Amino acid sequence: MTEHAHLAAVRESYDTVAADYLRLVVPPEGMDPVSRAMLAAFAELVRGAGGGPVADLGCGPGRVTAYLDSLGLSAFGVDVSGEMVALARHCYPQLLFLHSSMADLDLADRSLGGILAWYSVHHTPPALLPQLFAGFHRVLAPGGHLLLGGHAGDACLYPAEAYGHPVSYASHLVPADRLAELLTGAGFAVTTRLEQPHPQRADRSHLCLLAQRRQSATLPPSPDATNS
Ligand SMILES: C[S@@+](CC[C@H](N)C(=O)[O-])C[C@H]1O[C@@H](n2cnc3c(N)ncnc32)[C@H](O)[C@@H]1O
Repeated sequence: MTEHAHLAAVRESYDTVAADYLRLVVPPEGMDPVSRAMLAAFAELVRGAGGGPVADLGCGPGRVTAYLDSLGLSAFGVDVSGEMVALARHCYPQLLFLHSSMADLDLADRSLGGILAWYSVHHTPPALLPQLFAGFHRVLAPGGHLLLGGHAGDACLYPAEAYGHPVSYASHLVPADRLAELLTGAGFAVTTRLEQPHPQRADRSHLCLLAQRRQSATLPPSPDATNS
């Protein structure tokens, strides 16, 4: 498999920042109440739909994966950064963490009850999002829930440093409408959309989109059947 250049940059950058990311970023317990409420709503929706495994895609050091576990979900993490996966395995040895790109999931079709992508899809170039969301749709069971959380906006940013280290990744801010449209196009019904203004940055908002994989399409009755 040839790795997209953007993925190599993400992997190398997060390998470099992993330990300081863990030190500097607030854990889920310290997040704002609205973000925690969205995670709780997602957990309740997944449990209500029958549960099933939940993949935390772009899990970083695994703290949100563990938070989902504490909310009663069978959560496991996936990350492209080997250092992030090593940290997650060290901190939460009872949980499963896979070293993989979310764009290349080695998971069976319709095998998941839920997918969380929390501040992780913004490193995927917008042109690759249809493919990425098609992959999410493939592995999610019909009726399964997706929670996409992250920054929305309209810019491509190339930060020189993050978490105290030089980084080479790009952050793609995509408008909320466009993300919702892409999910709909990939076979999801977007059920909830929550946008919070960013307290310091006018160029972005915090966005949560809850979406559900549509049940298999029911064919409309044929004219013959209707008339008989
Ligand atoms: C800002 S961190 C968020 C980590 C975690 N979701 C959290 O909230 O603590 C972004 C993470 O997404 C991962 N990531 C980005 N693109 C990815 C991809 N295509 N496949 C797997 N992981 C990816 C990065 O390696 C990094 O660990």
